[in-house]
Amino acid sequence: VSAAASAAFAPGRVNLIGDHTDYTGGWVLPLAIEQGTTVRLAPGGDTVRLRSADEPGEAVVPVGRPDPAAATGWARYVAGCVAEAAPTTGAAGSVSTTLPIGAGLSSSAALEVALILALGHTGGPLELARAAQRAEQRASGVPCGLMDQLASAAGVDGAALLIDCTSDEFRPVPIPDGCEIRVVHSGQSRTLAGSAYAERRAQCEAAARLIGPLRQAGLDDAGAIGDPAIQRRARHVISENARVLAAADRLTVGDLAAVGELMKRSHASLRDDFEVSSPALDGLVEQLSGRPGVFGARLTGAGFGGCVVALTEPGALDVGWAVRAGAGAHRLG
Ligand code: GLA
Repeated sequence: VSAAASAAFAPGRVNLIGDHTDYTGGWVLPLAIEQGTTVRLAPGGDTVRLRSADEPGEAVVPVGRPDPAAATGWARYVAGCVAEAAPTTGAAGSVSTTLPIGAGLSSSAALEVALILALGHTGGPLELARAAQRAEQRASGVPCGLMDQLASAAGVDGAALLIDCTSDEFRPVPIPDGCEIRVVHSGQSRTLAGSAYAERRAQCEAAARLIGPLRQAGLDDAGAIGDPAIQRRARHVISENARVLAAADRLTVGDLAAVGELMKRSHASLRDDFEVSSPALDGLVEQLSGRPGVFGARLTGAGFGGCVVALTEPGALDVGWAVRAGAGAHRLG
C-alpha cells in the first residue's frame, strides 16, 4: 500500500454472448458497463478495514493473515483480495457501488478489481484480472474463469471485448449505433450456482480428456462421446465458441439481426445442452424475444437465475436497465 490515500473504480459487466466457454479456453464477448464499484482507502494500521454504503457490517481483515474462510458475507471477498494483494501495511476506507448486488452483473468482480487496484496493484489489466479471479476463487470456492474480472479490468468505452481465453488476448469490438443493450432480471437469485458451476466445469474437463481441448474440437468429435450428459456439455461449448466468433463478426458490420439470432441460439444451447437455465429465465427470454424491435435475448453469466441480456432497437423495451459499454477499471483522483 502506498503512503498516500488511494481510490479506484471498477465496472460490472454484462456478457453479450459466450457463456461457460471461458474456463475451457474458449471465446467470450462481454462488455464492461458504466455502473460499478468505488473503493477509497487511507493507509494505516495492520488491518484492511472497509465499510460498505450498500451492505451491512464492516470487513476487517488482518494484513498478515487474510483468511476468507474466517470471514462472512462480503468480507470474504475483501479477505480474498488482501490475500492476493498482500499489502505490507493496513488501510481503512469505504466501498460503494452503483451495481445491483448479486444480480449477475459481476458486482463481486467489480469489488475485487477495485479493491486490488486501490491496494496498490502495479501490473497491467491482465495481471489485475488474474489476481481478482484468484481472489474470487479463494472467497467463493467457485472455480470461475477469467471473463468477469478481465471485462472489468480491461473494458473499453463503447465496445465489447472479444477475449480469447486460451491466450487471454483481447480486442475491442465496437457496439454499433442504432441498438440498445438491456439487462432484465429474472427475479430469481442465483442460489445453486456454486456447486452446479463446479460440476459443469468438471464435465467439460471430462469431455476434454476424451476429445482434446474443446476449443479445437468439432461437433462430430462431441458426437462421438458416449456419456450423453458429457456429450451435451461439449456440444454447447463447441457450438458457443463458433457463435461468439460469428457474433463479433456480425457486430463489426452492424448486422444486428444476425447477432440477435446467435443470442437466441446461445440461450437454447445453454438451456438444452448445458442445462444452466431455469423456467424463469426461459420464460423471460421467450417473452422479450417476441417483442417488436428485439433482435435477440439470452441468459447472461453463469445461469441458474440472474439476468437476461437483450439486444434491441433503441427504446424497444421498457423493462430492466439500458446499459452502455463503459471503460475498464482505473484509479481515481
Ligand atoms: C461466471 C464466471 C465466469 C464465467 C460465467 C459463465 O460469471 O465467473 O468466469 O464462467 O459464469 O460464462
